[in-house]
Amino acid sequence: MRENPNYTDLYYQNTTAHSQIVDIITEHTVPLSEVAAPIDWEALFGNTHPVEIEIGFGKGRFLLEASKRHPKVNYIGVERAQKYVEVTRDRFEKHIRHFGVDRRSGTFSNVRLVRTDANYFLTRYVPEMAVQAYHIYFPDPWPRKRQRKRRIFRNQDFLEALTHTLNSEGGRLYIMTDHKEYFQEIQERLAGLSVLRPVDAGLRPDSDIATHYETKYVLEGRPIYRVVYERA
Ligand SMILES: C[S@@+](CC[C@H](N)C(=O)[O-])C[C@H]1O[C@@H](n2cnc3c(N)ncnc32)[C@H](O)[C@@H]1O
Repeated sequence: MRENPNYTDLYYQNTTAHSQIVDIITEHTVPLSEVAAPIDWEALFGNTHPVEIEIGFGKGRFLLEASKRHPKVNYIGVERAQKYVEVTRDRFEKHIRHFGVDRRSGTFSNVRLVRTDANYFLTRYVPEMAVQAYHIYFPDPWPRKRQRKRRIFRNQDFLEALTHTLNSEGGRLYIMTDHKEYFQEIQERLAGLSVLRPVDAGLRPDSDIATHYETKYVLEGRPIYRVVYERA
């Protein structure tokens, strides 16, 4: 089933027209339209370290802690909501000030925030087989029936872009959600992609770094569903 978004819809228009890429350390913000596609990671980060992408980073907890912990991994966070991009920028700024992080030390030079729609970004800007991992934590479940078409895992272009852009040598996709029904749907849709195979969900690295929603839902006692896929 192909349920591709129409980029002239208001829902997407606002996001894709104002797409930007933000460098946390230099504070440079560049309209995505001025960036050549697909993006040359080496030119963007100045190194050949592996690239991991978090889709829908929300308040940026995972992005901050993971990028700090793994300076030799490049992280790209993609978020459609301007509000959360600002919240996350503030989170990094406060951390830099509070811990006296030297902006020339290299800390956080491995992070870029991209304000845009993930499908738009993956299908246009991410090179083939160039992503070591995708992190998709608590994707919006759009519980109302008429809005379910917005579920990101329903979009065939998105699914194809996910698989094409994952590195064929051990590229992984990490998913968490509290929404049982959406979790089942995600697994059914990914089962249709022959290049992805589920592996032990316990393989999620940095599982001690909880996202905002994970913390909230664990405190509420909700079950959390986790799955990890590897590109075969
Ligand atoms: C439920 S929140 C989860 C936030 C975070 N991952 C967490 O676990 O705390 C879902 C996030 O995904 C973002 N989002 C939803 N659809 C998106 C899309 N198509 N592209 C980029 N971000 C998206 C939303 O704006 C929101 O911040």
